[in-house]
Amino acid sequence: MFDDTLKVFKELSSRDFRLLTGIEIEMKNFEWVPVPELRKYVGLPVEKLTFHLERLRRKKMVVRTLDPYEGYRIYFEAYDALALHTYVQRKTIAAVGSEIGVGKESVVVEVLKEPEIKIAEPEVLILKLHREGRTSFKQVKRTREHLVGKEHFSWIYAARLAAKREFMIMKSLYPDISLPKPIDQNRHTIVMEVAKGSELSKTKVLDPEWYLDEIIKQVQLIYSKGIIHNDLSEYNIFVSDEGVQIIDWPQYITKDHPHAEELLRRDIENVVNHFSKKYMVKRDVDEILGNILKNTTFEGAVTNDPEIRDLMTAEDLANAEIMSAEDFDEGETEEDFDDFTIQN
Ligand SMILES: Nc1ncnc2c1ncn2[C@@H]1O[C@H](COP(=O)(O)OP(=O)(O)O)[C@@H](O)[C@H]1O
Ligand SMILES: [Mg+2]
Repeated sequence: MFDDTLKVFKELSSRDFRLLTGIEIEMKNFEWVPVPELRKYVGLPVEKLTFHLERLRRKKMVVRTLDPYEGYRIYFEAYDALALHTYVQRKTIAAVGSEIGVGKESVVVEVLKEPEIKIAEPEVLILKLHREGRTSFKQVKRTREHLVGKEHFSWIYAARLAAKREFMIMKSLYPDISLPKPIDQNRHTIVMEVAKGSELSKTKVLDPEWYLDEIIKQVQLIYSKGIIHNDLSEYNIFVSDEGVQIIDWPQYITKDHPHAEELLRRDIENVVNHFSKKYMVKRDVDEILGNILKNTTFEGAVTNDPEIRDLMTAEDLANAEIMSAEDFDEGETEEDFDDFTIQN
């Protein structure tokens, strides 16, 4: 799926990217973006725009309707291409390698960054493309009237929000907590370093007691920052000779969440159960939980940062959904596109 996007990506011109960005921006206002609206972004007559849009449609970068008027929208394929384009411009990414993971809510690929020094080897990084959307916003749709008629855009908000949350929390916790270094963020994606070692679920460690202790230490340390991972399991923990690294952070909660204790317990339980089943290592979940709750001071908490917070109510989600001009990168805001409205 992402491979197809990559093939198309190489054939896209800067005009194509302006058209796609134009559709992205106008999707805030239109379920189907009318062609004349796109003249703000690409200064061509409507017939020429239609010609270029048809090319993009054949490449599956845009979807068209003809009823009740001719209009266009984008989906994840184009959104992926737009994020990739931004990273290439920022020199965060020089090349894309193979897909290494497809989850329910993400696509994860290896990418290359040009070395700072010419003779050095390029650095391998990870690009995570979020795929949340629709379901998590159903509730919002039901409860927030101002979202009615904007469902067409909710997947962008949901995926973008997840990526932002994940990047922000990783930035706040790194390097005190053991996780891959976060590098860059754009739209619904993040770039980070490759986690060391391999997924706990795919590994048989020789010293399970030691690894379990390392994980519990991390859980306690994370909690001392005022944070609970909230999706901890053998699938989101990497193990290597050096220790453990924890990935997959968008669903984190803070210690002030109404179900904080219960969810912290669940994280511990997932890990303890894994070590019990696979290695016959027995530990008492409530004892570990009790120790953490009793012995943690929140001196290094990151929860004073207003960006680090729980999203619990439909209202939180709806507020997060309000996109501002800063959400678009330099060269991507509508104003910046004014330069391009030259008629020819
Ligand atoms: N930084 C990373 N280094 C190596 N592999 C990674 C990294 N991030 C993600 N992966 C791989 O991609 C998979 C999915 O990523 P994850 O962040 O867990 O998203 P999801 O929400 O889809 O589970 C992981 O289980 C892991 O195998
Ligand atoms: Mg995961």
